[in-house]
Amino acid sequence: MKAVIPAAGLGTRFLPVTRVVPKEMLPIGARPALEHIVEEARQAGAEETVIVISEGKELIRKYFEGASDIRFVYQKEQKGLGHAVLQAAELFGNAEPGEKILVLLGDAVVTGGCASAELAAALKTSGAAQAIGFERVPMEKVSRYGIAKMRSAPEGGVFMLDDLVEKPRVEDAPSDFAVAGRYLLDVSVFGFLAGQGAGYGGEIQLTDAIRRMISAGVESVGCAYSGRRQDIGNPEGYFKALEAYYGRC
Ligand code: G1P
Repeated sequence: MKAVIPAAGLGTRFLPVTRVVPKEMLPIGARPALEHIVEEARQAGAEETVIVISEGKELIRKYFEGASDIRFVYQKEQKGLGHAVLQAAELFGNAEPGEKILVLLGDAVVTGGCASAELAAALKTSGAAQAIGFERVPMEKVSRYGIAKMRSAPEGGVFMLDDLVEKPRVEDAPSDFAVAGRYLLDVSVFGFLAGQGAGYGGEIQLTDAIRRMISAGVESVGCAYSGRRQDIGNPEGYFKALEAYYGRC
């Protein structure tokens, strides 16, 4: 298993501190948030991790200098999450067909459980080709997320995925299960992303590539993991992440 952590975002929701400190480098305990995420990837079985950064976020590179399982790639234009993930494709040129690519969003820290390990377990027990992490959200918030259309009812949190819709209106949402920052994808995702045009918000969406994979017959399950996703991309979310972290110790 290989991992990609998109961490190229500009951090506009956390200005002005993000002018000098990338949001991913804000501490949770004595370690940057990003190191908790790297650690989650390792725990789930990732042998190597590519962190996608952008110009100005060299502090990330400096911090992880010397870690032999971590490499970096730049996203030179802000063209969306799908585009960020695609930047890692070249560094994974050695990936075997069927290999799995774990994507962990760099501003989503999961407290209270190893979400990525739960995705790996869901993949193993279901025999599906890929697993996507979900959380339930209040119906009035569905338009902030990618939302699942389910093919089967959740059993132990795991369900067959029929489709995904990126940021639907409340009345169009097929469920209240929201894509929650963790994806264990079949390596063929890179091929799908390479041929992908702009979607919601004019950006190349990872959600759209996954939809196309599902329609092409790539069996995909959703997994409502047990931990809680904390969005550290804004001050309130970061504060909640700290509360959850210290509450746990
Ligand atoms: C991204 C994804 C969305 C997902 C969300 C939270 O959106 O596109 O499907 O639900 O992360 O993990 P963003 O928050 O970058 O707009």
